[in-house]
Amino acid sequence: MQKGFTLWFTGLSGAGKSTLAQHVARELRHRGLKVEILDGDEVRTNLSKGLGFSKEDRDTNIKRIGYVAKLLSRNGVVAITAAISPYKAIRDYNREQIGNFIEVYVQCSIEELTRRDVKGLYKKAVAGEIKNFTGVSDPYEPPERPEILVDSGAQTEADSLKAILDYLEQAGWIAPGQAAAGCCHG
Ligand code: ADX
Repeated sequence: MQKGFTLWFTGLSGAGKSTLAQHVARELRHRGLKVEILDGDEVRTNLSKGLGFSKEDRDTNIKRIGYVAKLLSRNGVVAITAAISPYKAIRDYNREQIGNFIEVYVQCSIEELTRRDVKGLYKKAVAGEIKNFTGVSDPYEPPERPEILVDSGAQTEADSLKAILDYLEQAGWIAPGQAAAGCCHG
C-alpha cells in the first residue's frame, strides 16, 4: 500500500494554497497515488458549516481538518489540506496527532496580496468592513521550521510545485517521478 501522509498548506488568504494543492494533487494522482484535498473554503461549507473566524472557531475548524487528515493518511491516502491555519499551536497539535506531517508555508507579502485581492476581501478588511481578517486585523503565526517554504510573490506556480515534489521525493515520501505533468497551463 502507498505511504499515507498529510501535506499541510498554511498561509494567508489568497497566497495560493488551494491552487498549489490542486496542482500537487493532480501530479500525485497522475503518478497513481490516492489523494484527497481538504480545502478551507470547501470544509467551511460542510464539515465546519456555521463556524466563524474567532480564534476558538478557527481552532475547531483546523482540528477537524486535522482529524480527517489523520484518518485518511493512516489509511494510505495523501491528505492535502489548504486552510489558513493561522495558529502555530494547533498546527503543531495536528503534526503530533498525525505523525506523517509535512508543513508547506505559502508565503506572500500583504502588499502583494492586497494588490491581487482576488476575492476583494483585503480592500474590505483594510476599510474595516470585515473584522478580524487574517494578516490585516487578526494574527497569522508563520511556521518557524516548515518542511517546505514557497514564495508565491516571487516564484511561479511551476517552481513552487517543483519545490514541493522535489522535497517529497528527496524525503522518501513518494517515488522519484518523471518531469511534472503539464502543470499550470490550464
Ligand atoms: S482558518 O483561519 O480557519 O484556517 P479558512 O482557511 O478555513 O480559515 O478560511 C479562510 C477563508 O475564509 C479566506 O480565504 C476567506 O475567503 C474567508 N474569510 C472570511 N472572513 C475571513 C476572516 N476574517 N479572516 C480570514 N479569512 C476570512
